[in-house]
Amino acid sequence: MEGKEVQMNKLVLPGDILRASEAIEMIPEVDLGPPIEVPPIPPEADPKNIPEEERKFLKSGIRSRKKEIGALVLAHNYEPPDVQDEADFIGDSIHLAKIGRDSKKKVIVEAAVLFMPEMLAVMKQPDQIILTPSRKALCSLAAHADVNKILAWKHEHPKGKVISYVNTYLDVKAETDICCASTNAAKVIQYMAERHPDSPLLFLPDVFLGYFAMTVLKKMGRSTDNLWLMMGACHVHEKITAHHVMRRMALHPDAAVTAHPECGCVSKCSMLLDQGLVSEEMMQLRSTWGMLEFVKKTPAKKIIVATTVTNIYPMQKAAPDKEFIPANPEARCAFMEQNTLRNLYESLRDMKHEITVDPELAERAKIPIERMLAIQ
Ligand code: 13P
Ligand code: SF4
Repeated sequence: MEGKEVQMNKLVLPGDILRASEAIEMIPEVDLGPPIEVPPIPPEADPKNIPEEERKFLKSGIRSRKKEIGALVLAHNYEPPDVQDEADFIGDSIHLAKIGRDSKKKVIVEAAVLFMPEMLAVMKQPDQIILTPSRKALCSLAAHADVNKILAWKHEHPKGKVISYVNTYLDVKAETDICCASTNAAKVIQYMAERHPDSPLLFLPDVFLGYFAMTVLKKMGRSTDNLWLMMGACHVHEKITAHHVMRRMALHPDAAVTAHPECGCVSKCSMLLDQGLVSEEMMQLRSTWGMLEFVKKTPAKKIIVATTVTNIYPMQKAAPDKEFIPANPEARCAFMEQNTLRNLYESLRDMKHEITVDPELAERAKIPIERMLAIQ
């Protein structure tokens, strides 16, 4: 009781590092809102707001310029529909990182948020050029990770190992032992716990994914006492709460549920699954790409989607006969939607905006990125 009072009196700030159990308890107390300004969503993110003539011009311009300069276009599943349609590949962060890494094209344009093309810039061949359509495409979750707090934790825990979520920038990745993405988070946590059974583990920057990390350790029969989490979150996903999901489940009892593990509903969904109250056929916590696989496989005809509403576009394409219900219809990532058909065209036309990285940071960050990509 005394410990709890001490904890409740402690001022915990976003980006602080706490023992996992304390971090989970402190979620309601900490402002997990965006630590950077969120730009407005450009009207042209919606295809209806671009005159049809211009859309045709931009689409054909993108196709011919791609051929002319030998470019590959990659787009994340959260990108506006028009951008996804013009991409050579769409996918989640890890999927796109692998495609980009293995591509021999001279120019790679990645329509996503900065940490993704930044990874390609780290792994590229010397003569390749990595472009992003918009420099405003950042990430509130990545902005929560404060490298000085990580350095302080490492100083206090010389045997500690750092697991960074892929939504981080190179300064943080350079201080990381291994990265993970939502696709392989469980496997990476398991791998690190088995390889370093006596080391404190720091998982960052997402406290909700941190909860997921705790459940992985518990399922392995391991103590979570040596797990540390950072108080960070995505401003879009933390607003997709258990209430949103439970309300939709009550309204649509025949619907399956798929949720991204960055969501505020992650503890509730994990609890429903762990207690066998919902089957894996009807509920899964998956990456943005894993969700597409799930919607094809589940026998349910209706699916409640707990992530950004833009991810419903590729889902609808993957399973055209199914109905998709957003858990929170307001969930949109304004950062991802900074990339539009217009600036994708301009990016290819003018070879902008090139992503360059500090060579010393890149060399150090490449190690945890490659370790992540080696774990399927
Ligand atoms: P994925 O790795 O699932 O693509 O997630 C990245 C992301 O930013 C989700 O908000
Ligand atoms: Fe970052 Fe959240 Fe946008 Fe994903 S949805 S890119 S975590 S701000």
